[in-house]
Formats: sequence, C-alpha cells, structure tokens
Amino acid sequence: MNVTNKVILITGGGGGIGAGIAEAFVEKGAQVAITDINLAYAQAEAERIGGGTLALQHDVTSPESWAEVKAAVEAQIGPVDVLCNNAGISLPFKPMEEITLDQFNRVMAINVRGVFLGCTLFMPEMKARKSGHIVNTSSANGMMPHGTFAAYTATKFAVAGLSEAIRMELEPFGVGVSILYPGLTRSRMSEGQMHDLPDAIKAAIAGKMMEPVWLGRAVVRAVENNELHIVTHPDHLDALKARMDTLYAAFGEPAQPDFAGGRIND
Ligand SMILES: NC(=O)c1ccc[n+]([C@@H]2O[C@H](COP(=O)([O-])OP(=O)(O)OC[C@H]3O[C@@H](n4cnc5c(N)ncnc54)[C@H](O)[C@@H]3O)[C@@H](O)[C@H]2O)c1
Repeated sequence: MNVTNKVILITGGGGGIGAGIAEAFVEKGAQVAITDINLAYAQAEAERIGGGTLALQHDVTSPESWAEVKAAVEAQIGPVDVLCNNAGISLPFKPMEEITLDQFNRVMAINVRGVFLGCTLFMPEMKARKSGHIVNTSSANGMMPHGTFAAYTATKFAVAGLSEAIRMELEPFGVGVSILYPGLTRSRMSEGQMHDLPDAIKAAIAGKMMEPVWLGRAVVRAVENNELHIVTHPDHLDALKARMDTLYAAFGEPAQPDFAGGRIND
C-alpha cells in the first residue's frame, strides 16, 4: 500500500511508540489520527508532530468509545485505511502470585480486549472495500516469555496469535496484518518501569532504549510491503532460537502409540 494521503488511526499515540508511528506516517504524507485515554498526551504529540495530526480521547476497552472515535475520524479525515492497535500498559515486574486479579483484568482489557474491539470494528469494512491494513503492537515478550512479567507476556502472546490468525482471514480480501514486536524503546511506560532502580542502572538501561520514530519507520515499511512480522530489535534472535529449539525438541512420537494423526486442515 502506498501510504501517502491514506488515513491512519493509531491508539495510544499520546507518547512513545504510538507517537513514533504517527511521526513516521506523517513523514510519508499520510493523514493521521492519534487517540489516547489521556487527551492532553495525544494533543501534545499531535502538536509536536504537525501535519494536521488529529488528537482524540479514547478508551480502547470500551466499544462505545471505539464507535465515537471511528465516527470522528471518518467525519474529519475519512475512512480508516490503516489501523494501528498500539495502546497498552505493563505491570510491575513481580512473581505472578503477587499480581492481583484487578491488575490481571486491566492488562488483559487494554492489551487484548482493546485489540479485539479495534480489529472487529474495522475488519468488515476493510473486507468490503478489499483494502486496508491492521498493525497490532505485541512485544519481544510476545515471542519470548519473561519471568516476573507473566501476565503482560500472556497479553502479548495473545496479540501475536490473534494477529496471525486474522491475517489468514483477511488475506483473501487483500487486507494486510502486521505484528510489531518492540524490544526496549523510549516511552513513558519503559521509563516509568525504572522508577525504583538505582541511578547507575537507570542510566545503563536508558542507553539501551531505541527511539520510537525508528519503530514507526519500520511499521510504515511493513505496511507498504505487507509484511507480517516487524522485528525492530534483532538482538533477541539467539534467545528466540534457544526457545524454539526447546519446543522443536519436544516433537517426538505421538503420545498414543497407534495414533494415525494428521492436521484437520490437511
Ligand atoms: N516501550 C517499550 O519498551 C515496549 C516494548 C514492547 C512493547 N511495547 C508496547 O508498545 C505499546 C506502546 O507502549 P509505549 O511503550 O509507547 O508506552 P506509553 O505508555 O508511552 O504509550 C501507551 C499509551 O497508551 C495509552 N493508554 C493506556 N490505556 C489506554 C486505554 N485504555 N485506551 C487508550 N489509550 C490508552 C497511555 O495513556 C499511553 O499514552 C504498548 O502496547 C506496549 O505494550 C512497548
């Protein structure tokens, strides 16, 4: 897809990666709307980015809020060509039994339900138009679990799985789906996570954060070329290979000795 003049809707665009994605689309001459639960954050980024970027208040967990955002974007810049489901929250690094049910429900609601609501709202019309693209922000933790980050990891595996599945559903209609798997990137979320760390460690971690606009430029390329996986931090490759090797090694004989086998789709 040539993204010039296309309408791009980015959730959680009031900072960090969402704002970086917005900036990269504006560089290419797209018309961008950023939404955020915190309108002031979205307005500040829209002003910084320029290019007529629209800022809207949005709670991605609410179907009513999605309907309002869709109507506002259509009225002000037109039907959405590219939907970037990027809003997300993290949780403190803690053993899973120390995560409360409220925290679990909240991270699931924003990181997974929010993506479900966005996709299901826009998929029918993208299919009907036979054009469009959805980009869902997972995480490096959507390929590799992280101990003390279990609930967040679960949400990001969910986003990756959901996205690959709907890519299969949308491909016959000429609609693309991409998954963004960021590693450590400068944002309110990542910097907030360092609150309690000693200054020297904070400085060391801060030096390892990628600047969000580079993730944005990778997203734009993936939309232009209809690529499924957007890996911005390739330093995770060895860890991923080690994980996959363990999984491949578990493929032995069927558990039932006389099992005929075969996948349902074969
Ligand atoms: N920064 C990283 O290192 C990193 C790494 C991997 C994945 N991610 C993912 O990238 C995405 C963006 O995160 P970020 O790091 O830029 O953080 P961020 O906190 O800067 O941005 C997320 C934005 O989402 C907004 N938001 C929160 N709840 C919302 C809701 N209910 N509805 C709408 N907006 C809501 C926040 O106000 C915030 O502005 C998230 O999905 C996150 O999980 C980030």
